[in-house]
Amino acid sequence: MIRIVGVHKSFGEKHVLQGLGLEIEKGETLVIIGRSGCGKSVLLKHIVGLIKPDQGQVFLGGVDMAQLDRNELTKQRMRCGVLFQGAALFDSLTVAENISFYLDEHTELPKEEVEGKVRQKMRMVRLTDELLDKKPAQLSGGQKKRVGLARALAMEPEIMLYDEPTTGLDPITADAINKLIRETQHVLGTTGIAVTHDMASAYTIADRIAMLDDGRIIAIGTPEEMRNSRDKRVTNFINGIAEDISEN
Ligand SMILES: Nc1ncnc2c1ncn2[C@@H]1O[C@H](COP(=O)(O)OP(=O)(O)OP(=O)(O)O)[C@@H](O)[C@H]1O
Ligand SMILES: [Mg+2]
Repeated sequence: MIRIVGVHKSFGEKHVLQGLGLEIEKGETLVIIGRSGCGKSVLLKHIVGLIKPDQGQVFLGGVDMAQLDRNELTKQRMRCGVLFQGAALFDSLTVAENISFYLDEHTELPKEEVEGKVRQKMRMVRLTDELLDKKPAQLSGGQKKRVGLARALAMEPEIMLYDEPTTGLDPITADAINKLIRETQHVLGTTGIAVTHDMASAYTIADRIAMLDDGRIIAIGTPEEMRNSRDKRVTNFINGIAEDISEN
């Protein structure tokens, strides 16, 4: 479904991705773990075509993203639903308008059908219709994440990308979001990629876990395999042990 081959990306002097390769199968949920600043969000942005690699290729369903013109790229992007780091809702729009945003922008669906889809997605993320007219500022962190999730799901994407879906939430709300992600993947058969620091979250949602370090995937496997890894970089990360305090 997604194939990333030898991707390099630098920002100025900083060589963030250094020949990264990764394959994600249809229907699986892959969790990417790694230290803050290691390039996880940059990797997700390559997958949706928001960032172009300096070198290497990103294939979505066999299509090389770099070969597409603007129209085709927009079409490819529509196959991906994204829950951005921090939910990234539009503050001036209501919950309903946030959720229908991409449907309004990119489809010609009649108003009633859009409203139907909005309500259906609200139910999916377990939000009551009373919130439809509220603005993001009136919502709690957990509610915002749910709205972000509903907005990403509204287009019924084949691929869902989640950037830190549970950061900043209490453990119980985080668990509810994780279960929601898991359920969505199962019910819709969506291919998922989630970035997280939170190992509890990773174990709940992942079919496989990949660790990003030094611009490459240094380890990949089932949660069980990662837990039993002998690679010190993996075990230190999973157990939260700092190797070099000066870097923190
Ligand atoms: N548009 C950009 N311009 C310049 N530098 C960037 C840009 N985007 C990312 N970077 C740099 O690339 C590196 C990786 O950033 P990225 O956001 O992918 O980290 P991350 O792994 O998602 O971290 P976190 O866990 O804190 O979200 C950082 O050093 C960041 O400053
Ligand atoms: Mg990030």
